[in-house]
Formats: sequence, structure tokens, C-alpha cells
Amino acid sequence: MHINPKKTIAIKVKKIIKETFDITTLELDTDLDAKPGQYLMVWIPGVDEIPMSLSSLRDPVSITVRNVGEATRALSQVRQGDKVGIRGPFGNGYSVLNLKPLLIGGGTGIASLLPLAKKIIENGYKPAFLIGARSKNQLLFLKKLEKIIEKNNLYIATDDGTEGFKGYVSNYLNEILKNQKFDIIYTCGPELMMFKIFEIAEENNILIQASLERYCKCAIGLCGSCAIGPYRVCKDGPVFTSEMLRNVNYDFGKVKMDPSGKKIPIDH
Ligand SMILES: Cc1cc2nc3c(=O)[nH]c(=O)nc-3n(C[C@H](O)[C@H](O)[C@H](O)COP(=O)(O)OP(=O)(O)OC[C@H]3O[C@@H](n4cnc5c(N)ncnc54)[C@H](O)[C@@H]3O)c2cc1C
Ligand code: FES
Repeated sequence: MHINPKKTIAIKVKKIIKETFDITTLELDTDLDAKPGQYLMVWIPGVDEIPMSLSSLRDPVSITVRNVGEATRALSQVRQGDKVGIRGPFGNGYSVLNLKPLLIGGGTGIASLLPLAKKIIENGYKPAFLIGARSKNQLLFLKKLEKIIEKNNLYIATDDGTEGFKGYVSNYLNEILKNQKFDIIYTCGPELMMFKIFEIAEENNILIQASLERYCKCAIGLCGSCAIGPYRVCKDGPVFTSEMLRNVNYDFGKVKMDPSGKKIPIDH
């Protein structure tokens, strides 16, 4: 189903899954015609409308939310049977190319990469997947990934060393690249992590597709709240190719606009 982007429709939340202490998955009672990396605008009645990546495209359609502020807190507190408004899907999504892929996810960024991993596997490839979090108990979708990614292709990094490599995913990536070759990196997560990964990809001549986050209001390229250089994250993105990232290198990993349009530094 393609929902009218200008019209929000009310959808029942059919199941809630508590993933970690601050991350929750909401399974939605709807079907959708969406591709990996696309997102919905989710309206929480009486609170706000916010962008949320699809963490599953079908059977069931789901979103996975981290509680970081007012709207995400309200969404995390929705109960089974409650309704939320959705419009979408929006954005370009990832392009699945006939190349050897490494997927790198940090925090809730892993959510938008899970449907991509499934799509790559459906197409007959065996993707490698590197996931990172501050600590073992914050690793999202580890069990789901262990089911679909071969053991020797699943890399784990935690800042505190409670699981896998001790340190940032970017440091682990440098280690992995000493023994493995990849043609393309798909990444979603904190922008400073993705910026480091972009630099490493450029040094090693590896293509990259990175899913960026900016403050989104309209989701259809009109209001300008999500502008970065010549692009609108909501419509031209959220997935940026190597070439697009080179064009916005002065903003990427450095500054973004707050809801009032003022430029503020990126701190995570
Ligand atoms: C295309 C896209 C897909 C996204 N997918 C997911 C997802 O799958 N899961 C998830 O948990 N979050 C996702 N986000 C981020 C999510 O939309 C924001 O965390 C949310 O809008 C914050 O709203 P709030 O009222 O809870 O927090 P606020 O009180 O508004 O802000 C709390 C913090 O979040 C930051 N923030 C606020 N709005 C945004 C925004 N639109 N984008 C990025 N950072 C923001 C603020 O700078 C602040 O640091 C996505 C964002 C985009 C643009
Ligand atoms: S959210 Fe309005 S232009 Fe992107």
C-alpha cells in the first residue's frame, strides 16, 4: 500500500516488543509497498509527527524507536491496540548493487539496515554486518542478525568491550579491512560514526551509502527544514551516496539545523 503523503491514516499497533531499556519495536497493522532505507512520518496524537525508518517492510511492518525526547518517549509508551497516524513511505532508500557489501549499524541505525540485509540475501548474496553499541545490553537485533548473517560475517563492537571488539566501530572497521575487501559500505547510525566510516571508505576506495538524519517536517521536499547543502534529506535522501557526501562534506559530521533553522554542532 502507498499512502497519500499529504494524508495521515490511523493504524493500529498490533504488537510491542521491548528491545533494550530505551528501544521499542512497534508492529503496525498494515501492509506497505516500501524499500529498505525508506521511512514513515509517524503522528503521535497530541504530541508530534516524526520520521521513523521501517525496521521491517512486511509480515509485519514495523518501526523501532529510541526514547530520546518528547515524541519518541510518547511513541515508546504506546500500548498494543492504540492507534498512531502514518504517512509514507518516503525517501530514496538504499540501492542494492551487484557488489560485495558490508553493512555497518550503530544504535537504532541497525533498524533501517535489517530490511536491506534481508533484501541482499534474497538476491543471493552473503552480506557482512558490523554492529556497534555502547554496551552488550544495547546491541539491537543481535538475535535476528545471528539467524540471517553467517557467523564469520557478523562483527560486533562495544565501547566498553562487554561483547566483541572493545572500541568504536570505526576502529574495528580499520582492523577488518586489513584482512577483508569490500566494494560497498551501507551505514546508518550516529553521524559522527558515519563520518569516520565515510573517511575510511574514501581512503580505501570503497563506495558508501549512508542514511542521514536531519530535522524533518513536511517529508516532501517543501519546507527546507532538513536541507544539507543542495539536498533535502527527506526527499533526496535519507540515503546519501559517496558523491552526495563529498558535496556536503562541509556540513556532514559537523553541523545541522535545529527546529528553528539555526545551525548547531553535531555532537553524536
Ligand atoms: C529519515 C529519518 C529516519 C529516522 N529513523 C529513526 C528510527 O528508525 N528510530 C529512531 O529512534 N529514530 C529515528 N529517527 C530520529 C527521530 O526521528 C528523532 O529522534 C525524533 O524526531 C526526535 O523527536 P523527539 O521529540 O523525541 O526528540 P526532541 O525532543 O525533538 O529531540 C531530542 C534529541 O533528538 C534530536 N532530534 C530531534 N528531531 C530529530 C530528527 N528529526 N532527526 C534527528 N534527530 C532529531 C535532537 O537534536 C535532540 O538531540 C529518524 C530520523 C530521520 C530523519
Ligand atoms: S522535511 Fe520539509 S523539505 Fe525536508
